[in-house]
Amino acid sequence: MKTRITEMFGVEHPIMQGGMHYVGFAELAAAVSNAGGVGIITGLTQRSPELLAKEIARCKEMTDKPFGVNLTFLPSVTPPDYPGYVKAIIDGGVKIVETAGNNPQKWLPALKEAGIRVIHKCTSVRHALKAEAIGCDAVSVDGFECGGHPGEDDVPNFILLPRAAEELKIPFLASGGMADGRSLVAALALGADGMNMGTRFIATKEAPVHENVKKAIVAASELDTRLVMRPLRNTERVLVNAGVERLLEKERTLGADIKFEDIFNEVAGVYPKIMTEGDMDAGAWSCGMVAGLIHDIPTCQQLIDRIMAEATNIIRGRLEVML
Ligand SMILES: Cc1cc2nc3c(=O)[nH]c(=O)nc-3n(C[C@H](O)[C@H](O)[C@H](O)COP(=O)(O)O)c2cc1C
Repeated sequence: MKTRITEMFGVEHPIMQGGMHYVGFAELAAAVSNAGGVGIITGLTQRSPELLAKEIARCKEMTDKPFGVNLTFLPSVTPPDYPGYVKAIIDGGVKIVETAGNNPQKWLPALKEAGIRVIHKCTSVRHALKAEAIGCDAVSVDGFECGGHPGEDDVPNFILLPRAAEELKIPFLASGGMADGRSLVAALALGADGMNMGTRFIATKEAPVHENVKKAIVAASELDTRLVMRPLRNTERVLVNAGVERLLEKERTLGADIKFEDIFNEVAGVYPKIMTEGDMDAGAWSCGMVAGLIHDIPTCQQLIDRIMAEATNIIRGRLEVML
């Protein structure tokens, strides 16, 4: 399958793995890239630019295919060493960067000069248009169903993707709720040039996370995610667990007065407890509604091959014969 995204990134299949905190290590990025997709290392999971440089080098030992790095720009009083991370990416010879969060404009000249393709992940048409205007090469459009931060507009992908197609000139990936060949064909039909998946890639053999996390995703249905931190305008879609129930109870009790300090225990430092130790009630961790469509733990190669075979069957075997 050839789309503007496969051409732009020089990959076989129009499938990308979104950056994921404490999941997007070299093992997963390399496995996705080796299977013909775009694997992504999560920059900020590496605590310093030096560690990111090592992770990039480790990934290069595991694949000679293109892979990328996610840089998430968070509002913060003491921001991470972003110049250092950008330098590690450029010096490491990485050619794809997925940006997310705040406007990446400040970092584009350096990235562009190094020949890096930038795909910005956003949750609204207006932010996608902004990304196009400042010179991003592509965008990932994350619908309301996505795992992680869906923004505050709550527009699901059946509306958001065709709206993005109406407005954008640069190619975009459908993100949020994507799991299989049906998702890919639907995404293409709605105007996207491929799809980005988060949650689906966690439930793979190579994802370097605790088995409990993979089993929890397989066991979950589409009804098992919750939105937290909405009162703080930092909405996150997470898998429900005892920690999340505690957090939601605090949100109900404290109402509009709630502060980040009130929910610190349920959100800060949770990722290593969940992803490394498998302590599944530790607190809030991102997970998409798409968990309801995830029933197994294949290798990345099996997953991507299956998606492409299913997509081909749908187009040739189901859609074409309807005409
Ligand atoms: C566990 C987890 C951690 C994530 N961490 C990040 C992150 O650090 N930066 C980022 O830009 N997106 C992050 N995301 C969002 C994904 O990259 C992707 O946009 C999203 O998962 C797509 O929705 P899906 O889960 O329905 O496929 C995370 C998602 C999950 C499930």
